[in-house]
Amino acid sequence: MEASPALSRIGLAGLAVMGQNLALNIAEKGFPISVYNRTTSKVDETVDRAHNEGNLPLFGQYNPRDFVLSIQRPRSVIILVKAGAPVDQTIAALSAHMEPGDAIIDGGNEWYENTERRIAEATGRGLLYLGMGVSGGEEGARHGPSLMPGGSHQAYINVQDILHKVAAQVEDGPCVTYIGEGGSGNFVKMVHNGIEYGDMQLISEAYDVLKNVGGLSNEELGEIFAEWNKGELESFLIEITADIFKVRDDLADGFLVDKLLDKTGMKGTGKWTVQQAAELSVAAPTIAASLDCRYLSGLKEEREKAEEALKQAGFKEEIGSVTSGIDKKRLIDDVRQALYASKICSYAQGMNLLRAKSVEKGWGLNLGELARIWKGGCIIRAVFLDRIKNAYQRNQSLPNLIVDPDFAKEMVQRQAAWRRVVGLAVSAGISTPGMCASLSYFDTYRRGRLPANLVQAQRDLFGAHTYERVDRPGAFHTEWTKLAQKSGSGVGALN
Ligand SMILES: *[C@@H]1O[C@H](CO)[C@@H](O)[C@H](O)[C@H]1NC(C)=O
Ligand SMILES: *[C@@H]1O[C@H](CO)[C@@H](O)[C@H](O)[C@H]1NC(C)=O
Repeated sequence: MEASPALSRIGLAGLAVMGQNLALNIAEKGFPISVYNRTTSKVDETVDRAHNEGNLPLFGQYNPRDFVLSIQRPRSVIILVKAGAPVDQTIAALSAHMEPGDAIIDGGNEWYENTERRIAEATGRGLLYLGMGVSGGEEGARHGPSLMPGGSHQAYINVQDILHKVAAQVEDGPCVTYIGEGGSGNFVKMVHNGIEYGDMQLISEAYDVLKNVGGLSNEELGEIFAEWNKGELESFLIEITADIFKVRDDLADGFLVDKLLDKTGMKGTGKWTVQQAAELSVAAPTIAASLDCRYLSGLKEEREKAEEALKQAGFKEEIGSVTSGIDKKRLIDDVRQALYASKICSYAQGMNLLRAKSVEKGWGLNLGELARIWKGGCIIRAVFLDRIKNAYQRNQSLPNLIVDPDFAKEMVQRQAAWRRVVGLAVSAGISTPGMCASLSYFDTYRRGRLPANLVQAQRDLFGAHTYERVDRPGAFHTEWTKLAQKSGSGVGALN
């Protein structure tokens, strides 16, 4: 064995900003790392940065073979390239030089089934494979992301010490855990992103209500969000929202936030989350509402024309009459509570989607542990994730966050404020699809009896689908139309 001390502990291929930052993070934690990118200028750039950011032990390599051979066996190679075909190409280029027992770790936002296919292919060649969700954006990658590695447990063990140091640190440990087998790491990251969609939508609705119903200025909004960030809502997204309201336009008068086009971009993980929820028959209305809102936001020109068309048809804005008697202080406090309660419902949906998938695939996901590794580093990091962690640690089989005794109490305490905000918004004609979806989710889930009995009757009437009864077992079918006609008031009785 050529145990050369010059060999790197790990390698990273794909040196866009995320890749560069993660490599620098690893080197900074004292793990010698080899880096590679087809574009040689990217390698030089990364080596320069490693030099400038503290002479970090990072070594540039200029072809796949040298890169792979510069790493200690069993080798671990992280790849951070665009999801899809580029991942397959990178694997092909690198695996030609890898040996049985070596591991590939894909850190991209990959569709979990692609990871499962690649695990099978890698296994066929004796290679280990991990699909690892990485959240935290560029900053997180450099200074501590939340990591969601799933796939080969041995591949995880081989790099566990590195991941523990590189991940964000919170008081109960590093924000990384072995997620489970197969594509579970990617799936968990996907749902994380779906929850992120929900959070961002709910925050934008709070902004809309405070601005347009409450008449708050950007300065006031900045102060309110900064204030909220000191309480139960404390989180990365609330914190950056406070900052956004403070930024003045450098090209014209006023605040920059008011100059941004109201069209939201997206990369697909939110859509996958909603598709998976539908596949698994899990209700995720808040996440779906946030996705729908992104679609509608994209129809900017259509919306402008609709605004005009409805004005001509006689539509009158009702905002004025609603805002006239508003108690600003009360509204702000109500919106804070509505936002919190809406978020809990959204997280409940995401968690239940994760559980349903875990059951289907036999992943054995630990929901409390997932909430824990989201407490730091990632985009949805928030103080109340600690409470979610505790709820699942108290009761692994908690069917819904809403019925955890602590959360149940909080929901009950906040529901009056929540209803006031949604009611005000509806009267004012300000759409709050996320808050409405969360409130409807809550009101549907908490009711022991729903009007689904009528839907069952309709299904049985036109399709003989049969129904169950509340008072005795068995499947029943009724000739509804015939009986209704006999009673003299059924379908067609008036003809
Ligand atoms: C190298 O860099 C380019 C451009 O930054 C990128 O498109 C490519 O996927 C990178 N990765 C590898 C492994 O070459
Ligand atoms: C977990 O929650 C469910 C539903 O609320 C309940 O039926 C069960 O008893 C709880 N288990 C524990 C250990 O508290």
